[in-house]
Amino acid sequence: MSMKLPFFRKKRAAAIEDITLENPPNHVAIIMDGNGRWAKKRGLPRIAGHKEGMDVVKNIVTVANKYNVKILTLYAFSTENWKRPKAEVDFLLRLPKEFLHVYLPEMMENNVRIETIGEFDVLPNHTKAAIQYAKEKTSNNDGLLLNFALNYGSRFEILRAIKQMMTDIDESKFSVDELDEQLFSNYLYTNGLTDPDLLIRTSGEQRLSNFLLWQLAYTEFWFTDVLWPDFNEEIFRQSLLDYQQRKRRYGGI
Ligand code: IPE
Ligand code: IPE
Ligand code: MG
Repeated sequence: MSMKLPFFRKKRAAAIEDITLENPPNHVAIIMDGNGRWAKKRGLPRIAGHKEGMDVVKNIVTVANKYNVKILTLYAFSTENWKRPKAEVDFLLRLPKEFLHVYLPEMMENNVRIETIGEFDVLPNHTKAAIQYAKEKTSNNDGLLLNFALNYGSRFEILRAIKQMMTDIDESKFSVDELDEQLFSNYLYTNGLTDPDLLIRTSGEQRLSNFLLWQLAYTEFWFTDVLWPDFNEEIFRQSLLDYQQRKRRYGGI
């Protein structure tokens, strides 16, 4: 009879081990890359990879929440992605609506707040409407901030900040002498957010592709060959564990 006990103990221990990840990064940013190659490998159209990638987003939000990450910024569509064939662009810009249609109730249950960074106004109306609804609906949630970078480009963001700043200086809202890093940061889309602690890029590419150039100044980078649709809890967890082994010096000793 007592022989059954160790079995139960073992199971319990595994469950506890799973959630004791201390000092998680506060802000994780992810360049979700490799959807097209994932589809190609399977003889599927590229959009099948994007669809699969959407479900991975949901899973990773759940895992981030579980490991106490406070901000998750996901690169979903860059200012350069407009160069793709129109059918693919259309599909990509329908995904936010699709994602929210399926998963918004679950995001609400998990106390997730949804926000975006990027040039919002020029997105298609259906995309804007779905996101605006989700932003308002989740605005009082105080759990994980799920931040989609949508029509986002870092150089555009920096130029936009400079233009707005120069207007404000012209209007004597502040003087050039007062301009410092903090004040400049306030003009970026990421105003109010701490800089990412960890940047993950999937699919083996090791470049930023115009993502958060200012904000990543002291971020820890983590690259994996895994394609985004294959990204899962185990790999995410590995990135978090690796992050915790890093010694962040910020130029000090
Ligand atoms: C990432 O996957 C999704 C977006 C850029 C929107 P890709 O579509 O870039 O996939 P690959 O890099 O061609 O495999
Ligand atoms: C970066 O991926 C943009 C997103 C993940 C949304 P890309 O696939 O567009 O980047 P490049 O073209 O390989 O640099
Ligand atoms: Mg790509």
